[in-house]
This record gives sequence, C-alpha cells and structure tokens, in this order.
Amino acid sequence: MKWSKNSWRSYEAKQMPTYSDEKKLNGVLDNLSSMPPLIFAGETRSLKSQIHQVQKGEAFYLQGGDCAESFSELNPNTIRDTFKLLLQMSVVLTFATNTPVVKLGRIGGQFAKPRSSDFEEKDGLKLPSYRGDIINSYEFTKESREPDPQRMMQAYNHSASTLNLLRAFAQGGFASLTQLNKWNLDFASNFESTQKYKLISQKIEESINFMNACGINENNTRELRETDFYTSHEALLLPYEEAFTRVDSTTGDWYNVNSHFLWVGDRTRDPDGAHIHYLSGIKNPLGLKVGPSTNIDDLKKNIEILNPENEGGRLTLIIRMGAEKIQSTFPNLLKEIDKLGLNITWVCDPMHGNTSTSNSGYKTRATYNILNEIKSFFEIHHSQGSIPGGVHLELTGLNVTECVGGPEDIKDENLGDRYHTFCDPRLNVNQSLELSFLLADLLSNGDSL
Ligand code: PEP
Ligand code: CO
Repeated sequence: MKWSKNSWRSYEAKQMPTYSDEKKLNGVLDNLSSMPPLIFAGETRSLKSQIHQVQKGEAFYLQGGDCAESFSELNPNTIRDTFKLLLQMSVVLTFATNTPVVKLGRIGGQFAKPRSSDFEEKDGLKLPSYRGDIINSYEFTKESREPDPQRMMQAYNHSASTLNLLRAFAQGGFASLTQLNKWNLDFASNFESTQKYKLISQKIEESINFMNACGINENNTRELRETDFYTSHEALLLPYEEAFTRVDSTTGDWYNVNSHFLWVGDRTRDPDGAHIHYLSGIKNPLGLKVGPSTNIDDLKKNIEILNPENEGGRLTLIIRMGAEKIQSTFPNLLKEIDKLGLNITWVCDPMHGNTSTSNSGYKTRATYNILNEIKSFFEIHHSQGSIPGGVHLELTGLNVTECVGGPEDIKDENLGDRYHTFCDPRLNVNQSLELSFLLADLLSNGDSL
C-alpha cells in the first residue's frame, strides 16, 4: 500500500487507547495539525549524519531520560538536572575516548507508554491501565483512567516549553565547557566517580586555559560554547504523531516535526503492524527496540521496511535482552544481521530486560545487571569485530532511589525513600556517573582514566 501520513490507519495498531468522544478527538487532532513544529527537518538530517559516524566508530551514542515524562513534574530544575547529567556523562566519555558524543534525551515528548496489561486491579477494583500522561492520568479512579484527547494538546504544550528551555541550555552558555566546574557544585560526595569527575574537569580547565592563551575561546569557537542536543520519544500514539507529520519544504520529504528521533517499542514492532508502517514513511532517524522474543526473519523484514535504501544513520537497533539473555540471544542475532553488510547502528538498552519486583513491592532494577548487560554487549561486539555504538538509558538528574546498588549501595529497604517514577525505575545521578566511567573503561580498554 502507498504510504501517506494516515495510511497506518489501515493496519493493526497495538497499544492504542479507545477514545469515547470521536468529535472531541478529531477537534484536538485538527488543532494539533496546525501547531508550529517543535523541530526542523534539517536538524534531523544533522543527527542522522552524526549517528552514521557512531556506526563507523567515530562517535558515541548516549540516549537517556525518563521512562515516562509527566505533566506534574514539568519543572525547569528537573529538565536542567537531566540535561546536566547527560552533559557530564558525555564529558567523561569524550575525555576517555577522544571522540564526540551524540546526545539524545528521552525528553520533550516521551509521554505515551505501552503496557503489558490493558487493566490494573487494586483492592478488587479493575480499571484501564495508565498509558502515560498524553493518554490518561496516573490516579486510580475511573474518571482519571478514561483516555482524554485534550491531553495531547497538553503534551504538545509541555514538549514546546521543555524544548524551549533545552535549546536555551544548549546554546545560551550553560553548556559551555568553561562552566564545567559549575556543573559540579552539587557533587558533595566522596564517591570514586565524583572524584574522578573532578579530576577530569580540572584537566579540561587546564586545556581550556591553554587554548585561551592561543586565542581559541568561547567567543570565537562555537564548539566550546554550545552543544548539540536532540530529542526523542517512542512513536506509540499514532494519531498524535500523524498530526506532526509534515512535508519539508527544502526536500519535499515527509518528516515528523515533533521530535528529532523516534523509536518503535518492543511491543509494537510487528512488521505488518501500523507502527512500523507509519515510521517507514518519515525521514527522521529511527530506532527499533530488539527484545529477547525477536524473530530474525521479522527483524530482517523490519530493516528492509524501515531502511530500504540502506541509508547510513537511518536505523539504530536498540538491543534490550536482559543481562542473562543477551549472552544466549545476541551473538547469533548480531552474526545474522552483520552478514547482510547493511548500515546499522547498534545500541544497548540495559534497562528494559532487567526489571524485577523487589521484596518491598517496588519495580526496580539492579545496577550490576545493568552494568553486566552493557559489558556483554561490548564483549559480543568485540568478539565479532563489530562496533558497539552506545547506550539507551532511563535516568534522571534527581537523587532518586529507584534502582538498587550503585555508589550509595541502595538496598531493597531504601527504595521507598525517594521513589518518584511514574513508570520504570531510573538510574540516579551517582549511578549514572558510575556507569559513564564503566563505559569509558570499556571504550578505551581500561586504560583511559
Ligand atoms: C521504554 O523504552 O520505555 C519501553 C517501554 O521499552 P521497550 O519497548 O523496549 O519495552
Ligand atoms: Co521504560
């Protein structure tokens, strides 16, 4: 079938809410279709070429943010702290490897969540599951769980103000390398990773002072003053994505102008389904989650549908097997796909295959499983002569207690202290920074820092 921005409607669309008021739904979608774009097609083309560099081993890919953004947590400090954390992690990685880091936030649109079950039951009451703030509300009442189309307008407005702030942070001086020590101030701890980070920032400061003396400074060099930061989210709620699917006047091609990068989740990656069909027609760089139940033939079909012209940087496969399963499933999958000799960027999501329920009833993840899955991902690539491109993480710049382990050695019984996520558990600042040092070691064979 010929692609158009609404042709996905003829395919089976999994994980979609049922809106009871179609007139209201269409009214909101009409309004959204005339709203200004959040990003420009040209920006997604730059991102695509940077992801192509990742594929060739000339850059590292770092994608991270909330599992689910929430309307109530939209707060400038939270956005700043997550942005800052991603910058700090990329400083560690760039310093260790002398290669640039492509920074993508799971931010500015990560509002829709796939669910394993359509219903949730509590104290004998059975209600529709929470599907993310763009669809319904987290509160466990009948009214809150009813999908409300007006929430899409709120999601757009939240994304617009988030992006506005991110652009200001990335280009307005906050991200300047001369500010490195200021990003540091709230690191009051004595963890090994904190100390190592301080050391790196001192060394960078020395280099900057040297460059200043040579006449290279933030006034005449954009790279010292600004950074590129891209947004991404799961393309799940297709009516919303359709409203932001527009023709780029420069090339005449279709782009999603809501987010730079979109990915398809592990539950909606059916090659005959609506999500894959929708993504096939837009030119943004794309991600495809690859979980343990992936069938190689389906994966090959998806690669063919999503990247028929074998364009570099177009398709990133995000492997999310789990610390154990990656050992048994990934080597063969990598071999089979590598044989095709196609342009594929390989990224590891060590979060979604490592979720468990703690004794205290919290959904959690153990940092040692997260670190182990990343290690295996690197080892498997190295043993097959292929390139591990980067990581896709759920993290926050807040000091939460959602994943166990890490520098503070968070235990089951500590999870309740600051457990704030609306969906999956995220790495906190210290856990994320520790992970960036592990990555730095893996990337430089242990002798970088
Ligand atoms: C996610 O990234 O939040 C997610 C639901 O992932 P997956 O589709 O891999 O389960
Ligand atoms: Co998640």
